[in-house]
Amino acid sequence: MTKSNEQWGSRVGLILAMAGNAVGLGNFLRFPVKAVQNGGGAFIIPYLVCFLLMGIPLLWIEWSMGRFGGRFGHHSTPFIMARMDPRRSFWKYVGVFGIFTNIGVAAYYCYIESWTLSYMLHSINRSFAGLNQIQVAEFFNRYVDLSESTLGLPFESLFFYIVCLGLNTFILSKGLSGVEKVAKIGMPLLILFGFFLAIRGLTLGTSGATPEVPDASAWAGLNFLWTPQPESLYNPRVWLEAAGQIFFTLSVGMGTVHCYASYLNKRDDIALNSVSAGFTNEFVEVVLGSSIVIPIAAGYLGMDWVLQNAGFGMAFQTMPFLFEKWGPVLAVVGGVMWFGLLFFAGITSSLAMGTPWMGFMHDEFGWSRQKAAWSFGAITLLMGLPTVIFFNYGVFDEYDNWAGTFSLVIFALLEVILFSWVFGIDKGWKELNTGADIRIPGVYKYVLVYVTPVLLLFVFAGSVVKPLNNDWQGAFYSLASGEGWPLDNNSLIRLIGNAGLKESIELAPAGEREYLEKKLFFTNLARGLLLVLFIFIAFLVRKAYYRNHRPDSPFEIKDTP
Ligand code: ALA
Repeated sequence: MTKSNEQWGSRVGLILAMAGNAVGLGNFLRFPVKAVQNGGGAFIIPYLVCFLLMGIPLLWIEWSMGRFGGRFGHHSTPFIMARMDPRRSFWKYVGVFGIFTNIGVAAYYCYIESWTLSYMLHSINRSFAGLNQIQVAEFFNRYVDLSESTLGLPFESLFFYIVCLGLNTFILSKGLSGVEKVAKIGMPLLILFGFFLAIRGLTLGTSGATPEVPDASAWAGLNFLWTPQPESLYNPRVWLEAAGQIFFTLSVGMGTVHCYASYLNKRDDIALNSVSAGFTNEFVEVVLGSSIVIPIAAGYLGMDWVLQNAGFGMAFQTMPFLFEKWGPVLAVVGGVMWFGLLFFAGITSSLAMGTPWMGFMHDEFGWSRQKAAWSFGAITLLMGLPTVIFFNYGVFDEYDNWAGTFSLVIFALLEVILFSWVFGIDKGWKELNTGADIRIPGVYKYVLVYVTPVLLLFVFAGSVVKPLNNDWQGAFYSLASGEGWPLDNNSLIRLIGNAGLKESIELAPAGEREYLEKKLFFTNLARGLLLVLFIFIAFLVRKAYYRNHRPDSPFEIKDTP
């Protein structure tokens, strides 16, 4: 094994990098949409409960595992996990998830990140001036269609994707200090831009109302998001959506937190640092994330429009149109701030996704930072090209489903079992509290052992048997009346065999069938690629094991706790 002498430069740098890892596109694009789709205020209570009972415990577990592994020279999950239970050899393969997920997610995540870069330029270029709402939406469709060009560049979206990935790779090749520097610049700017846009959103009031949309009101958007509805507590769908958002937004179940924490010293605090990074993320998500898109959209287009159209595309398909209403100067300022904010949010997260691979290749195969960073860029590019080229054929969604959603839950569930039950909560608790700058309430010991794993099992089971249209109440009625459990096409059971897509192909008229057949092909291709990636990393882990970790291995670093 090769010893790493990298370390975080300062505590502020570490917290900003960890917060940057968490604060991402999910805070501004995913959270407001999930909140609207799940009844606004109805979403907030389950969301906060999941943060306290699942998010914070997972952060503590991952920080503890990371710092523990770092003491033995491990900076990625395969051998961190193996080290926690040396008697069983399969943990190193469970740890493969902690590298796989990051490359799988980075492949499509950097694509969204690259849109923000290009849209920043388009805002400066005034590409959206004079376009109506439909034209701005179509602009995006043209942008992701490789055969079109919106900036006079051929293959524009591909060009920006490569630039964005290149930038990530370049920064990664500078090591932790590069990541830290970006976080120190990016996070304050992001918060500044966020405040500007949030104030603009909150002061819009009803000034955007027009004869066509007389009830347009930014306040209506805020009210919707902030009126708690206790009855949501009985709806499993809202709980599952809230839990899914907590995962994505905190970047838990990914392996990035372990990696960052592995560069800490043995006695560095983790209890308070992790909570600080987690709360910074929540502040950005709940306060800033809910004060921009929804109030601004409701302020011009009305809450009814928002309810019908809330979706991921709003950020690119609607916001540029709304900024144009602010006049030429503020339209540019608004566009640059909005897409700039998204860019910083994105890049501080995608950089984190590169570090587990780099840590692994350095520790196990002695690769230099440059070699490890550029190889990450190359693999991500290979994995990512299909998401760019076949964007309209579901490759992107497929990566998001398997790498960005299911893998996180499976990995989190297994790591909690490892930490609380196999490594043992007494050892785990001691590890977590070593060097702690706060006293963690004792009740959390029980949360870590019982509550978090049960919640995770519930989330996992929920995704396996997700009912039709996510309507749990309807599914329970159907079951009680003997008609069985109606499964959604996105439930793991149906998704695995592409049941929904195959049915659509059978029912589709001839013209549409060809498209759907292609979609089925690319869906399978995406899965094949992800599978190959997983097997490839597992193969490297096996090779590393025989090279460095067998008891008689000449490279083995003896325990140095
Ligand atoms: N945590 C990152 C985000 O929210 C991945 O986008």
